[in-house]
Amino acid sequence: MSPMPPRRQQPHPLSQQLLLAAVVVAAAALLLAMPPGAHAISIAVPIRPPQLPSVPTVRLQSAPGSPPSPSPATVDISVEPVELTLSLGLAAGNGTNTSLSFTTPRYLSSRAGSTDKLQPPALILDAVCNSFGVRLSNNLPFQGVSTCPFYPGQNAEAPQFENGPHDLEWTNLHTHGLKVDPGAVSLNNICEPGQPTAGFPNGANTSLNAYYCSPNVSSSQLCEVFGDNVLANGRPLAPGTPYSTPGVAPGGATLSYTYPLGAVVPGMGWYHPHTHGSVGIQTPTAGAPLIVPESWLSGGVTSLYEPADTTTVSECARLLGVLSAQPLESSTILQVNGLWFRKRADGTPDDDSLPFLGAAPGGTQVSPLLYDVLPNGTAVPKFSNPAGRDWALINGAFQPTISIAERIYARWEILNTMTMKWLDLTIQQVLPDGSLRPADCGFWLLGRDGVPLPKVPRRLASQPAGTSAFTSDLILGPANRADVLVKCNTPGTYVLASGAGPFHTNYTSCTAVHCELFGDVPPATSGLPRSANNLYGGLELTAAVLAVVQVGRRGANPLAQADFDNEVCRSRLELFPYLDYLSFPTPAVPQCFSFMNQQGVACLAVPPCQSLRTHRGFCSINSQLFPTATAYVEQGTQQVWELHDTTFHPFHLHETPVRLVSLPPCATSVTNNWAKEDWMDAIHLPVCQNGCIWADQGSGGGQCGSSVERCDTVEVQWLATMFNMPAPRGSSDLCAARGTAAAATNATCTTRYSVFHCHILPHEDEGCIWPVKWYCPGDAPTDPAQLNAQCPANYPDCGSPGAARPDKTVRRSLLGRNV
Ligand SMILES: *[C@@H]1O[C@H](CO)[C@@H](O)[C@H](O)[C@H]1NC(C)=O
Ligand SMILES: *[C@@H]1O[C@H](CO)[C@@H](O)[C@H](O)[C@H]1NC(C)=O
Ligand SMILES: *[C@@H]1O[C@H](CO)[C@@H](O)[C@H](O)[C@H]1NC(C)=O
Ligand SMILES: *[C@@H]1O[C@H](CO)[C@@H](O)[C@H](O)[C@H]1NC(C)=O
Ligand SMILES: *[C@@H]1O[C@H](CO)[C@@H](O)[C@H](O)[C@H]1NC(C)=O
Ligand SMILES: *[C@@H]1O[C@H](CO)[C@@H](O)[C@H](O)[C@H]1NC(C)=O
Ligand SMILES: *[C@@H]1O[C@H](CO)[C@@H](O)[C@H](O)[C@H]1NC(C)=O
Repeated sequence: MSPMPPRRQQPHPLSQQLLLAAVVVAAAALLLAMPPGAHAISIAVPIRPPQLPSVPTVRLQSAPGSPPSPSPATVDISVEPVELTLSLGLAAGNGTNTSLSFTTPRYLSSRAGSTDKLQPPALILDAVCNSFGVRLSNNLPFQGVSTCPFYPGQNAEAPQFENGPHDLEWTNLHTHGLKVDPGAVSLNNICEPGQPTAGFPNGANTSLNAYYCSPNVSSSQLCEVFGDNVLANGRPLAPGTPYSTPGVAPGGATLSYTYPLGAVVPGMGWYHPHTHGSVGIQTPTAGAPLIVPESWLSGGVTSLYEPADTTTVSECARLLGVLSAQPLESSTILQVNGLWFRKRADGTPDDDSLPFLGAAPGGTQVSPLLYDVLPNGTAVPKFSNPAGRDWALINGAFQPTISIAERIYARWEILNTMTMKWLDLTIQQVLPDGSLRPADCGFWLLGRDGVPLPKVPRRLASQPAGTSAFTSDLILGPANRADVLVKCNTPGTYVLASGAGPFHTNYTSCTAVHCELFGDVPPATSGLPRSANNLYGGLELTAAVLAVVQVGRRGANPLAQADFDNEVCRSRLELFPYLDYLSFPTPAVPQCFSFMNQQGVACLAVPPCQSLRTHRGFCSINSQLFPTATAYVEQGTQQVWELHDTTFHPFHLHETPVRLVSLPPCATSVTNNWAKEDWMDAIHLPVCQNGCIWADQGSGGGQCGSSVERCDTVEVQWLATMFNMPAPRGSSDLCAARGTAAAATNATCTTRYSVFHCHILPHEDEGCIWPVKWYCPGDAPTDPAQLNAQCPANYPDCGSPGAARPDKTVRRSLLGRNV
């Protein structure tokens, strides 16, 4: 890959005075609201509703030839603006009215149409061993790409890729939790004019400039996309765009995704937008589960699990009874969304708010949903944020009540869509003085990130150094999912809290907002408010309340359920070729990747760095920003990757879960939330904040030329499946047993591109992401140095090509913090 062309100048940051003035006019500006042609629906987020809003579901049945109730295998989903208002009213306590109002992207499905709710449907994938489709229409208002009037790749003014928040209304789709073809055969957007599958109607204006930059041409387009292609981009809705393709909702450009599915293990994945530059701004309010149900296996849960040994036969049977009564797709889904709107003491947006607002707010490249741009280029906010706090929602509601019965297991599928921060979930009783006391409840973990644990269940237990008792807590980083059984033994009213558990932010080592534990209390000197979720019962708590947990009496029936011992059943993961690690090809290909803090404090004193000082402090991988390096993976190989700095940066590889081969003691000595042999697709070990002693603040140092500190090495293994055309259905007998297995095809192997990145999504936008080139056997890159990435031992010298590059992302440095 050629080096990146020079980047463009940053837009001028909006001055603080302007921001303050802007807040004053914000309420009035709200009335001006939407751009012409688009009318945002208004949704008042339910505050403390007495019932948990359920997540609607849409089943995607196999295509023709497969068994009963053939529901369509394709769902239409649009991305469209919605105006969210959150107002605690007097419930905030002390006569204050904590509120927030802003316009944001959300998903709306034609098949679970609920226009007055934020929560989109969970897609239930009955289409295993076949394929399913999602037609995604972009109805966000038109915004030309940030390089306009030049289109991407046109010349030095418009590199093919740029980093930092940009192109905020362009969108596409990414799925977690499937073993699926990455689809992309090049890094380029296959939906732009001139590409064979771009899908423009006859007579469309096919000028690239018009496509990327002009609101005056139609966005009518139906682009066919294969697999989990995150390199395709959907054009936003131009005002007055006509659309008349049969079967497709009217709207802007439509990306019609076809996903081939082999034998996928039952579990919960999710889908969210993934256009580089707009991931951090769109995902917080657009994302929903994808569920592979147990029912696609001929024997359901009984073919997925077996007794762990001869002594656990009856207990395993009892566990399977609990699971069969609450199958994955009908158990309680809890989707956590984070809305990043914290203000600093001086009234300016905090570091976590900035990516949510889309850019260092100012100039013309702000989101038209959030700002009006005046003729003189000034961006005037049209959101209203008097509370200046962060918010977490569950299923689109604020602090809803979840009802369970005493001593009976409830199966929860928890999805953390938060784009930064982490959760340490416990169930607590709130005492009259606002203090929190652990309730008599426990979590039994069944699976993580859509893959069952090798042995189930695992009663979660954490005991940080210096504490005297175990606590049952569930730690979830960004993008993580957990399949858990929850049981409380005493009737009463409790809360599902984050920040009341055994772990806390180590504010000495965590100096950036993204590494905070959600709900934690920032140091008084920071002047930062707690989250809105810390407001509960008229009090300001020391932890965030995500939901109220009402534990009801059981009555005579059913019988109380006894605690499960650990590991009574074994998961038959070997049934799924991509999880059957003992059969992976050998020898494995070793590679190493470090998340690194690009450019450290020491550089400020050195002339070459001084000039770059406004660019220090963002996440890179092996000191490279997107797309200056590539990870090479030969299709058909086993990969073993060493990863560093997952304390601060959640590692996410597209298209496959990875198996934990080794974990650092800083994680395993204090909790059993993660164990060797678990599978995950986003690896984040935030408890290492308290166990790793970094030489410098932030991500393992980062000063020019200094050695890279590390204490949190994780090793993972995974199978780089051959992605032959047409769709692979997997060689597993499972598909044959279903009567849908395809004959093995020996079609020509084709190069594929996917990515891996930090799942702090603003870091992804900033360039903390690498392309992964899945090359075909015999097609290795000619420069062997390109193969087998190695972690650098040192940070680059100041001013060296690997040191920080000028970038549009200025905000970290403006606020003087490290990532
Ligand atoms: C709180 O403020 C919001 C937004 O300003 C307003 O819509 C709402 O009516 C207020 N609620 C109360 C109880 O004052
Ligand atoms: C396409 O649209 C652009 C921008 O509106 C315009 O300049 C150009 O002439 C159009 N091309 C055609 C072939 O209509
Ligand atoms: C779009 O049309 C309007 C009105 O005709 C014109 O003022 C504007 O310059 C056009 N924009 C582009 C990018 O062609
Ligand atoms: C831009 O225009 C607005 C409205 O006329 C004005 O209030 C503001 O001061 C102007 N800003 C600059 C930087 O000129
Ligand atoms: C209300 O005021 C009391 C007394 O000053 C204080 O302890 C409490 O934290 C306040 N609650 C909120 C929600 O601000
Ligand atoms: C927090 O991190 C610092 C710096 O790494 C370390 O010295 C300290 O022991 C940690 N605090 C706790 C409570 O572990
Ligand atoms: C595919 O190729 C392998 C190895 O060359 C061969 O054994 C197999 O029979 C082929 N399968 C088909 C369906 O052609």
